[in-house]
Amino acid sequence: MKESNLKKTSMLYEGKAKIVHETDKEEFLIQEFKDDATALDGKKKGKIKNKGVYNNQISAHLFSYLESYHVVTHFVGPYSDNSMVIKRLDMIPIEVVMRNIATGSLVKRYGVKEGTELEHPILEFYLKDDAKHDPLINEDHVLAFGHASEDEIKQIKRFAQKINAVLKSYFHRRNMYLVDFKVEFGRGKSGQIKLGDEISPDTCRFWDTESGAKLDKDRFRHDLGNVEEAYAEVYKRVFK
Ligand code: TMP
Ligand code: ASP
Repeated sequence: MKESNLKKTSMLYEGKAKIVHETDKEEFLIQEFKDDATALDGKKKGKIKNKGVYNNQISAHLFSYLESYHVVTHFVGPYSDNSMVIKRLDMIPIEVVMRNIATGSLVKRYGVKEGTELEHPILEFYLKDDAKHDPLINEDHVLAFGHASEDEIKQIKRFAQKINAVLKSYFHRRNMYLVDFKVEFGRGKSGQIKLGDEISPDTCRFWDTESGAKLDKDRFRHDLGNVEEAYAEVYKRVFK
């Protein structure tokens, strides 16, 4: 199939940073990345110039790279500068966070010192629910609320650990620490667990290994300036 021949039909869903469109083929969707940026459960709003293009291309590249390590993803192929063709997934409403270095909500919640290298990566589950401020939950909540089975949770954890191991060294080779990241999973047609959503500076934290500079959405969250430049820098390093 030539992805660019697919026809965009109706809009399926509009989120804070992306729009998902139906296509003329039932199993395929088009995921379009917006320049819109939000933080604080959507209370802080803004735009980051060219973010849609950067995040689409960074995500596409990382999905393909992860596929080569047998992480199954929803990625099918590029569609336009700021959109990609994906497989339709039945999304699981859980945010899976992996952490290598202490920052963000980990520091706030547990008082670990900012920037501490963790002795073991931490995997966390959050319920995807802005109105409830995406509460931290554990595997029993996921099971009890019927969001995923025990086997599915096992597969999600395996994929999250694999993604972390593979991307940590990928970014280290490009002089960035993969501090932490958030991923989302869904079920494909046959019920198989696949990585969905995106992997980008919106959903990961990257720190430059030399200067410690933040190269991700924290620049927007905390008004650090040079936001577009940070996305452009990650893009450049990913494609070099
Ligand atoms: P946190 O430290 O704020 O909990 O964030 C952990 C990671 O998850 C970090 O890489 C940013 C990412 N993240 C999202 O992608 N979406 C969100 O809504 C939040 C809160 C964090
Ligand atoms: N994406 C989330 C929001 O819009 C939070 C974040 O990424 O910081 O509120």
